[in-house]
Amino acid sequence: MQKTFYVMRWVVGLFSVAMMLVFSIDRPITEVLAVKKSQTKPLEKAFPGSQKCKRCHLRVFEEWEASAQSRSILTSAFRVSLERYRQSSEDKEGAMCFRCHAPSVLEYPDHAAVYVKEIESGDPRLDGVGCSQCHLIKEVNPDRHPPHPLYQLERTVFGSYTKPAENLAHQSISLPLYSQSQYCVTCHENLPGHEKLPDLLGPWQQSKKQKAGTQCQSCHMPEAFGESANGERNRKIANHSFPGRFGKVRAEAVTLEVDTKVKEQESEVTVTIQSLVPHNLPLPHPGWSRVELDLTILGKNLRKTYNERRYYERVFGDNNGKATVFDFEAVKVLKENVLKPEEKRIETFTFPTPHDAPSMDVIVTMTYAPIHGPEPFVKAVEERAALGRKARAFQPVQIVRFKENVKL
Ligand code: HEC
Ligand code: HEC
Ligand code: HEC
Ligand code: HEC
Ligand code: HEC
Repeated sequence: MQKTFYVMRWVVGLFSVAMMLVFSIDRPITEVLAVKKSQTKPLEKAFPGSQKCKRCHLRVFEEWEASAQSRSILTSAFRVSLERYRQSSEDKEGAMCFRCHAPSVLEYPDHAAVYVKEIESGDPRLDGVGCSQCHLIKEVNPDRHPPHPLYQLERTVFGSYTKPAENLAHQSISLPLYSQSQYCVTCHENLPGHEKLPDLLGPWQQSKKQKAGTQCQSCHMPEAFGESANGERNRKIANHSFPGRFGKVRAEAVTLEVDTKVKEQESEVTVTIQSLVPHNLPLPHPGWSRVELDLTILGKNLRKTYNERRYYERVFGDNNGKATVFDFEAVKVLKENVLKPEEKRIETFTFPTPHDAPSMDVIVTMTYAPIHGPEPFVKAVEERAALGRKARAFQPVQIVRFKENVKL
């Protein structure tokens, strides 16, 4: 009896070893090794906090600190939606969200619970998307969706300088990857497990900009000239404030042309929107992201005589076919009208001509709309935000505005 038991154990053992070999061929060996090695070091050693880099890279640190990426696990919208996701899915520790918002969890899957605790405390000591989470990426596996980052957790940082100055803290290796869109797409392409839904960025590879060799970095990490590390000689540097929804890059998002035709009863305004962005605008994650186009007509004494709003968004549908702003609960897309890469869109509005004034003001405004969704959700986001309604999530962000006075 006992003998057969031992034989069985051997058989099972050998079988599992064989299966492990088979499965690991599927995945690049670096990925398998990385997972194994990292678990022997405490997470804080493997992924040093951004504070550690600040000592020598003050400029970069300050730019990053002002960026959205430094707040990837801090915002109240993230905390509240993470909770909702953990309640509604099988993934009780929210590992899927951490895949991009705190990718150290990819190497330390057992730390998802630690992150959840830290986030609930409201003042996490661990970085979400900090210096190490980006600069220890050695390779990206493009065959997975989203492309999968492979980390090397040693004292070498990766970057794009071919001749970095030496220093006592780390070695540096230059990789072409750091200057390529492929690198960014690892966290900006789609939600893992939701591959059936269309990508977030849209057909960016076919855009004129990408075809001409313009990478994500060219617009979102604009080049400047200055110190890369404190006291080193000036050279080409890359801005780390990641301008996007906030910051200067917005000025280059769209051009508007407005044509007003005054008629007896109903007048007409035609707005031609040319997107200059080589990806979807807006990017439809989180699911409540939307851009608003507002037409306002002011008549006598600048009184509002007409107002109409249109939205560019992706409306997700859940299991029951109902619209939801929670993309992680989505199984399909019910409606989509985001501006595609470099798309030209024409919108026509008609409205009653104001009759009591010699002229009217035509005002067209395009903004990122504030957060919206079920009332209890929006309320929870407000309650948990340090600034309440003044938090960024509740502020519309203007992209472009056009105003003209038209004689009647
Ligand atoms: C490890 C994952 C990861 C990588 C790699 C990454 N990002 Fe991000 N990025 C994020 C997350 C998460 C956020 C959102 C943070 C938040 O607001 O909660 C973000 C936010 C941004 C924003 C701000 C968006 C806004 O609404 O204004 C820009 C711009 C951006 N990333 C560009 C880039 C570029 C360019 C690259 C490549 C150089 C890149 N990202 C690489 C995870 C990543
Ligand atoms: C594939 C990577 C990826 C995954 C997975 C992911 N996010 Fe994001 N998330 C991002 C990026 C990138 C942004 C910034 C998007 C932008 O501005 O266009 C973002 C932005 C957000 C925002 C708005 C910014 C903020 O911090 O308030 C929220 C909220 C958010 N994500 C919640 C979640 C939740 C909850 C999950 C898990 C269900 C999740 N995300 C999964 C990449 C990801
Ligand atoms: C003791 C000072 C010091 C500390 C601490 C330090 N660095 Fe550096 N780092 C340097 C110097 C010096 C350079 C070279 C700058 C140059 O060539 O102009 C550099 C270069 C780099 C580069 C560019 C490498 C390349 O090949 O493109 C990256 C990326 C980088 N550091 C990341 C980090 C990160 C991430 C941390 C924190 C984990 C960190 N550094 C901590 C001094 C430091
Ligand atoms: C979202 C990923 C991401 C994050 C977060 C990030 N970096 Fe970078 N960093 C990059 C990329 C990509 C480049 C190369 C840009 C290029 O060549 O266009 C770069 C370039 C650099 C460089 C050389 C150029 C320069 O501007 O000095 C240094 C040094 C550096 N990073 C340090 C840091 C430090 C320190 C932090 C944290 C405070 C940090 N990075 C956070 C992606 C990131
Ligand atoms: C030619 C310049 C350009 C390139 C290249 C580019 N973007 Fe953008 N991107 C923009 C502009 C402009 C905006 C701002 C739109 C606005 O604020 O109205 C933007 C917005 C964003 C945002 C935040 C806006 C949102 O709707 O949530 C993210 C995140 C982003 N881009 C990521 C990327 C990634 C990833 C790549 C590479 C695949 C990339 N971008 C390539 C110009 C560019």
